[in-house]
This record gives sequence, structure tokens and C-alpha cells, in this order.
Amino acid sequence: MNYIRKTVGANLASPQLSWKGHLVMQMMKRKNDYLERCAVNHCKISEGEKILEIGFGHGLGLHYAANTGKASKVYGIDISQLALQYAEELLYAEIASSKVVLFESSVHNIPLNSSTIDTAFSVNSFYFWPHIPQACTELLRVIKPGGRLLTVQNIDSILKRRRSGGFNQANVDFLAYMQTLEDVGFLDVHITYLTDEVTHKPYQCISATAHHT
Ligand SMILES: C[S@@+](CC[C@H](N)C(=O)[O-])C[C@H]1O[C@@H](n2cnc3c(N)ncnc32)[C@H](O)[C@@H]1O
Repeated sequence: MNYIRKTVGANLASPQLSWKGHLVMQMMKRKNDYLERCAVNHCKISEGEKILEIGFGHGLGLHYAANTGKASKVYGIDISQLALQYAEELLYAEIASSKVVLFESSVHNIPLNSSTIDTAFSVNSFYFWPHIPQACTELLRVIKPGGRLLTVQNIDSILKRRRSGGFNQANVDFLAYMQTLEDVGFLDVHITYLTDEVTHKPYQCISATAHHT
């Protein structure tokens, strides 16, 4: 049982090119679809905006962002080759038309110029980033002044997984994450507790506004 929990945890942190990775990816796709949809709703994407998702996994968030019809470009970065495969399959047409651009890369080293992104978002990802201050500094660099970073998850389900022992590699300290966002220079950092109107499931959105000195 412990082995299964550890294997699932490792594949949530970075889905591997194996049958276990495929299983975890299918599970995330089913369970987290509503979180990706809600995150994109919170982005309130306006005409011509450039959007970035960090840790896109299966690619549903990128799909929702691209299909608002408003974003001029949707970028995605993820460290997992399996995630790239899933997103490339789902977003075949959007990638072919250059509406969506994917990078196999870490949040610590985002291959984008400074101040290019209007809104960045991540779902169920920040607690796997190895160095949160470096990641937040890098996000601040690529987001335009006044642009936003949205961090969406269902804290209860993460803490439940953590208590069951399957999530030991995750740093699920939400308050420390929010403090780090402030420390590196984000403004108006706050958390909102919400319920999805479609599924009636709970989730939380941490919002932060980029400010460059
Ligand atoms: C639990 S999955 C979440 C996937 C999807 N957003 C969802 O909610 O179903 C975490 C994702 O974050 C990615 N990830 C982990 N560490 C990362 C890093 N340092 N930089 C970019 N992506 C990362 C993983 O590869 C994985 O696809």
C-alpha cells in the first residue's frame, strides 16, 4: 500500500513515461478538470492577452485558455515528457496554428522574455517546485507589471493525500508560499475560498499581482 502511495505521489510530482505515469495522468485528468476550468475562469482573459500555465500535466487548462478565443498566445511549461505528450495530442490544432506553445522546462528557468505574460496560472503544482523563492522570482520576471499570478488547488484533498503518506516530497505550506510571493515583490497576495458552480466542489485561488521596482 505504501509503495502504491509513493508511486502515485512521485507521478503526481512529475508524471513518468510508464504505465504508472499514464494511470496517474488519467486520474488527474478526471479529478482536476474542474480546477483547470475554474483557474481559467479566474484569469478573466481579455482580447489579445498572453497566458502562461505552469505544470499543465494533461493540458486541459491550456485547452480551456486557448478556447476562450481571446488569448493571442497560450504558453505552457512542464518538466514531464509525458505531460508534453498528452498536451501535444490534446492541443494538436492549437499548436499547429501557433496559438499554443509548449516548453519542456522548469518554472525555475522560464524560456520567455521579461514582462511578456498578462496572466500566469498553475493548478496543483507549486508544492512540487524544488525552490519556491527562485520560482516566484522567475514568475515575477515574466509577468508584466500589473499582471497576475493565480495558484489554484483543493487544499483539503492535498492535505488528505499528505496525511495518508503519499505526498512526502510535496511542500504544502500555503502560507509560506504566499509569504514568499510577497517577499519577492508580488502585491495584493490573498487567498479566496470558493465552490465550483458546476461540480459544487470546493477549491481555493491564491491571487498575486506583479509589481516591478
Ligand atoms: C499534480 S500535477 C498537476 C497537473 C495538472 N495541472 C492538474 O491539476 O491535473 C503537477 C504538474 O506539475 C509539473 N511540475 C512539477 N514540478 C515542476 C517544475 N519545477 N516546473 C514545471 N512544472 C512542474 C509536473 O510535471 C506535473 O505535470
